[in-house]
Amino acid sequence: MQSLPPHTWNAGLYDSKHHFVADYGEQLIELLAPKPGESILDLGCGTGHLACKIAAFGARVVGVDNSPDMIRLACQNYPDLTFIQAESSDYCPDEPFDAIFSNAALHWMPDAERVAACMWNALKPGGRLVAEFGSRGNIRAILTGINQALQAYGYYLLQETLPWYFPALGEYASLLEKQGFRVVYAADFDRPTPLEGEDGLRNWLAMFGGSFFQLIPADQTDEIMADIETRLRPMLYRDGRWVADYRRLRIVALKEQAE
Ligand code: BEZ
Repeated sequence: MQSLPPHTWNAGLYDSKHHFVADYGEQLIELLAPKPGESILDLGCGTGHLACKIAAFGARVVGVDNSPDMIRLACQNYPDLTFIQAESSDYCPDEPFDAIFSNAALHWMPDAERVAACMWNALKPGGRLVAEFGSRGNIRAILTGINQALQAYGYYLLQETLPWYFPALGEYASLLEKQGFRVVYAADFDRPTPLEGEDGLRNWLAMFGGSFFQLIPADQTDEIMADIETRLRPMLYRDGRWVADYRRLRIVALKEQAE
């Protein structure tokens, strides 16, 4: 079995064509309800747009992301904020935070138990975790399309090699409870997500599916992407645009004060 190469991020493409990630994240900030003076960790901060919005409430924000490219662009976008390049599964702050915020990032962290332990340690007693990410069944149609197209060209995509973790609500809530969190809110919902322009699906594949295509000769990539588009058009192309079949898990969990 050949494992997929690690995902590499194209921070420029992320910012220019995938700003919907940050746009949707604004609803999560409402749930976070940041207060002036609070310290907040933005885990998987990407290019920093949501960290900036949280900081606008008067909170002190630290953005952490494992991608050097994302952190470089975040620092460029918002030079007055603090961004740190680190793995979320072993980021250990000097001082614990009042809250952790994480949008569209935890599904990139398959070592979920370790990440949960890390988030627990990074919170003050009484602190809260507010997170949203892909849940079980996320991008099912897209994955089926990729799989079928790859197979048509003699390639096989093994489930075990996928870089994502899309847990069911109960699975993730239990994992947090095992760590000690009190899960006070959890919802699993479909969130069909429009992609920008006629090349929306292709851009999505280039942005997020890069590791699938790294093992394929460059001259075949275009053909395979066109094949994926043909297969998915009846399901995911509506009213003149591509719509990704996203499914979300939204969670609020507390690290309660010891009695
Ligand atoms: C998501 O946000 O659901 C997602 C993004 C990229 C790849 C897989 C899922």
